[in-house]
Amino acid sequence: MKPLPKQVTVVKHPIILEQLSIARNKNSNQIEFRKAIYRIGRHMAYEFMRTLELQEYSMETPLSKTTGYRVLERDKVLIVLVLRAAIPFVEGLYKMFPMARTGIISAWRGPAPKFKVDVNYVKIPDISQQDTVMVADPMLATGNTLIEIGKKVLQRGRPKRLVFISVLAVMVGIKRIIKEFPEAEIYTCAIDPELNRKGYIVPGLGDAGDRCFGSPERHEIK
Ligand code: URA
Repeated sequence: MKPLPKQVTVVKHPIILEQLSIARNKNSNQIEFRKAIYRIGRHMAYEFMRTLELQEYSMETPLSKTTGYRVLERDKVLIVLVLRAAIPFVEGLYKMFPMARTGIISAWRGPAPKFKVDVNYVKIPDISQQDTVMVADPMLATGNTLIEIGKKVLQRGRPKRLVFISVLAVMVGIKRIIKEFPEAEIYTCAIDPELNRKGYIVPGLGDAGDRCFGSPERHEIK
């Protein structure tokens, strides 16, 4: 297997693998699916936090002096929530980054073969050079939507780190993101082998938005 591009991290944790299996299972209902995405978000945030700098400081326990630690730049995290499937995912990210400033973007990917992206709502706070921006979208598929979103994000300022964080990705989408944003980082739980002609990740988990919020009959993708 080819090594992954250096910008890509696949976060493999038993809890994530377990929750991802629940999300992938076509028999999981709306509540089970949403909870799985929420839990994946929470654990991704735990793992992502390892990449933030730790600051040491002197402190005292009731018994002696010791070294304390604080996570630097935790309050410099800005999350961009991509409507609508990212709602439970971001809820999970907030568990580690409750003070994250948040941008909201609504983007709609049109049908194959063009997959034209319509971005119709953008509200992103100003971005500074100290910020770590996490663009949260559970599915990194064609990459078209995330490229448009990345452009909107950078119009608000150049962050220290631009991170695309997803549940599932495919190589074709990853490569497009890296080509467009060579400095960006990509965090995902798994890279699936295929993108079908309709732009769905295979084996994937189906339409993440419908499975979070839609009716069960609509989950079958023909
Ligand atoms: N968006 C989804 O919800 N699912 C996919 O498989 C691809 C894009």
